[in-house]
Amino acid sequence: MSSLTVVYNEISEVAGLLHKNGWAEKNAGNFSILVDLDFEINSGKHYPLPKPYTELANKVFIVTGKGKRMRDIARSPAENTVVFKINSKGDMYSILSVALVTPTSELPTHLAIHSMIAQRSSNERAVMHSHVTELIALTHIEKYCDQDRFNNMLWQMHPETIMFIPTGVGFVPFELPGSSEIATATVEALKYHSIALWEKHGVFSIASNLNDCYDLIDIIAKATKIYLMCAAVGTLPQGLSTNQLDQLKDIEF
Ligand code: 13P
Ligand code: ZN
Repeated sequence: MSSLTVVYNEISEVAGLLHKNGWAEKNAGNFSILVDLDFEINSGKHYPLPKPYTELANKVFIVTGKGKRMRDIARSPAENTVVFKINSKGDMYSILSVALVTPTSELPTHLAIHSMIAQRSSNERAVMHSHVTELIALTHIEKYCDQDRFNNMLWQMHPETIMFIPTGVGFVPFELPGSSEIATATVEALKYHSIALWEKHGVFSIASNLNDCYDLIDIIAKATKIYLMCAAVGTLPQGLSTNQLDQLKDIEF
């Protein structure tokens, strides 16, 4: 199996999960993966990037297409994603894949995140954005538009959260999708967290592969769902105690 086929298989699996969970209405959500593949440039054309990303010079990415549905990406990753290589100055890209698909409208945020990762030389290669219903719902409640309060709720709702997401999520106040402002704010949040929560919009996560990006989001979606289910029957949940959370922090995994 070629390495491109391996990546396409993972894209198919994860895009299908996002769709099945109801987190991908119409074209909602997108992702990008830094890959080691290199092959003949398909289009001789060079496309300008919104700003230079010098740390990403000569790097190759697979990115979901603008306006593409997750369910279509799951069915046919090759037709609904684009593989592109950034030039040596970091200010243009050329398309390597057969399908001439336009990269996601959230490309400024994806590239800004990959750029931050390259600067600090950490091992994340995948960036995922999704419209997770439960998380969006809570950011419509003013008191949860507070990072500490949100993280305390997440940690208290399920043991997995403190074990796998000990630094919690970074909260990003509302900004326009696709804007340079939201890219900057998201990078700031992801310097200290593996998940950034976009007020009234969705969530971004970073990890070494797409499945791990999905797991991070799945864990906090579950914790949030537990909170909302208790609230729906008229009782705010008791939550794990400080003592229980302290013990959970010490478990080696
Ligand atoms: P794209 O179709 O451009 O990826 O946009 C989806 C989205 O979720 C924007 O925030
Ligand atoms: Zn979105």
